[in-house]
Amino acid sequence: MELIKRPRRLRGGETLRKMVRETRMDKSSLIYPLFVMEGTGIQEEIPSMEGQYRYSLDRLPYKLEQLEKAGVSSIMLFGIPDHKDEIGSGAYAQDGIVQKALRSAKERFPEMYYVTDVCMCEYTSHGHCGVLCGHDVDNDKTLELLAKTALSHAQAGSDMIAPSDMMDGRVAAIRKELDQGGFSNIPIMSYAVKYASAFYGPFRDAAGSAPAFGDRKSYQMDFHNRREGMKEALMDIEEGADIIMVKPAMSYLDMVSEISKAVNVPVAAYSVSGEYAMVKAAAKMGWIDEERIIGEMAVGAYRAGAQIYITYFAEEIAKMMDEGR
Ligand code: PBG
Ligand code: ZN
Repeated sequence: MELIKRPRRLRGGETLRKMVRETRMDKSSLIYPLFVMEGTGIQEEIPSMEGQYRYSLDRLPYKLEQLEKAGVSSIMLFGIPDHKDEIGSGAYAQDGIVQKALRSAKERFPEMYYVTDVCMCEYTSHGHCGVLCGHDVDNDKTLELLAKTALSHAQAGSDMIAPSDMMDGRVAAIRKELDQGGFSNIPIMSYAVKYASAFYGPFRDAAGSAPAFGDRKSYQMDFHNRREGMKEALMDIEEGADIIMVKPAMSYLDMVSEISKAVNVPVAAYSVSGEYAMVKAAAKMGWIDEERIIGEMAVGAYRAGAQIYITYFAEEIAKMMDEGR
């Protein structure tokens, strides 16, 4: 056969295949989400996220050391407070769990890069991402509290603020508060393209943040919508977002692809708790090859156009990168 084009020519051996690879990953693009809680001596496994733990502040250094050794240099902190109330006051308390975690961790691990999730749902008694007015989340009242929370994180040493609440106008509100507080150089990574998703289930177990009534559909996006995702991304960039996040990752790579082509800021993909749990469960049953699945999921996100990958598998992926897989 006189075939002119034979794509298989470039697949003949490992060296050649690696030479012509289009997607190359780097450990510096990984962010590892981490749950911190009050108390001492606690490292408890999250039942629906095998291999992931909640750490009390005194146990945190062990984990950070592990991450540093693995070459994972960025984490995203989530706080699990002891007390919740109607207005989520623990979110912006000077001695709140995230604020305390930042102060102590930064002292021992100043080389780590600390991103902090800004939201109310872990801190409100009703589990919604803002303050209520009747049974609905009051957008504009919530903005003030989010801005206060962001400022308190920055004051405690956060390197990057990541609002996940999905209120309208929150990037502008947070930017203004940070600037006025003297933190004009702290970047905002906006959870701009965040869908109301069943993939967050295990996270809500981990953080005890499931809404006590109703759901999050009045603020998180309807997953049937593509153009709306673009609208959210462009709005947040206009409000001053430095990085745009798409969440979840695996079922939303069309959004990663489209947005990364359309905007000129870095795009992050968050592979969420449900994605992690599915892989873990299937692997435990012996039904999938865990390592290879993790690799394909990660490469898929980068291939779609993500510059940053937020994942509970960060350590495993770092190891795979080291070994050149
Ligand atoms: C808080 C927040 C959530 C996640 C990140 N920040 C939960 C939610 O919105 O219900 C989900 C992360 C994950 O599932 O891994 N708003
Ligand atoms: Zn929330």
